[in-house]
Amino acid sequence: MKIITCVAPVNIAVIKYWGKRDEELILPLNDSISATLNIEHMCAKTTIMASSNFKENKIWLNGKEESFQNPRLSNCLKELKKRSQTQSDVINWNIHVCSENNFPTAAGLASSAAGYACFVYALAKLYEVEGDVTYIARQGSGSACRSIYGGWVQWHAGALKDGSDSIATQIVPASHWPEMRVVILVVSDSQKKNSSTNAMKRSAATSKFLEYRIKHIVPERTEKMIQAIKDRDFETFATITMKDSNQFHSVCLDTFPPVKYMNETSFIIVDLIHTYNEFRGSTKVAYTFDAGANACLYLLEEDVPEVISLIQNAFPTNTDHVEYFRGIPVTEQELSEEL
Ligand code: DP6
Repeated sequence: MKIITCVAPVNIAVIKYWGKRDEELILPLNDSISATLNIEHMCAKTTIMASSNFKENKIWLNGKEESFQNPRLSNCLKELKKRSQTQSDVINWNIHVCSENNFPTAAGLASSAAGYACFVYALAKLYEVEGDVTYIARQGSGSACRSIYGGWVQWHAGALKDGSDSIATQIVPASHWPEMRVVILVVSDSQKKNSSTNAMKRSAATSKFLEYRIKHIVPERTEKMIQAIKDRDFETFATITMKDSNQFHSVCLDTFPPVKYMNETSFIIVDLIHTYNEFRGSTKVAYTFDAGANACLYLLEEDVPEVISLIQNAFPTNTDHVEYFRGIPVTEQELSEEL
């Protein structure tokens, strides 16, 4: 038997991926950009066991057995086996996979990103796969390819039909902007009603606004965002981050039938952040929301204590359900292998 355990962090997009040009290969309509969070705070931990005695492949997610008959899992497995350099028999054995998240699953907190990144990375170690694995992680869940690297990461939409140029690359390491922090406000930890996969398919099929966004907004925004990150220009970075989140949720409402992820509390957070930035006289905090009601705030370390007390005042824990993870630093670490 061979056993391997890996840990993979969550990433939070500042230019959102929404819509595919190829459903099977998971090729996106646009480039996206994210930061990878500190591995200890929000991560997926996956153990893979391979044995000649296992009769079939099996997978448990957070203690519950799930079906392995999932084309995304089998595509990743197939690609990794194709690229394997191993001389060992391990490649012919069945596997048992146990994966756990230390944060709410499928509540719009990028759980599939960390999960698939971890699965692919662990199998790549087991099968001795060399080189880039982001294009394999992408075939598990699009956003997973960005969790393979630490720091600031760009997932390139690519133009080739076979998707070989749709990979993730690091823009700069986390050490380039060491003061950057993320505060996560868990507004709701219930499972989201609309999976991102189905909702973005519907957006691509019905939203003219998404078409406009892909063609006329994202290319220029991506360039500006990369420059802002390179220049450590927080104002520009924060403004683009908030605008891109708002645009993504507007596309969701332009989808037919519409998709609604943000709730009343999410909008209270949006107002609170704008009011705070106005009060401070410059943009000190940026909010961004993925496919759920939970808010991710990007801010600099020096502003974390004040913003946390602002949140505590606005949402005293006994009257509302906002919990928060304090100031998670954007991480330098790449995926780690434990055994
Ligand atoms: C809103 O990567 O979960 O978080 O590729 O279908 O698995 P699939 O979708 P997924 O979509 C994430 C969308 C998002 C934005 C982002 O992370 O860029």
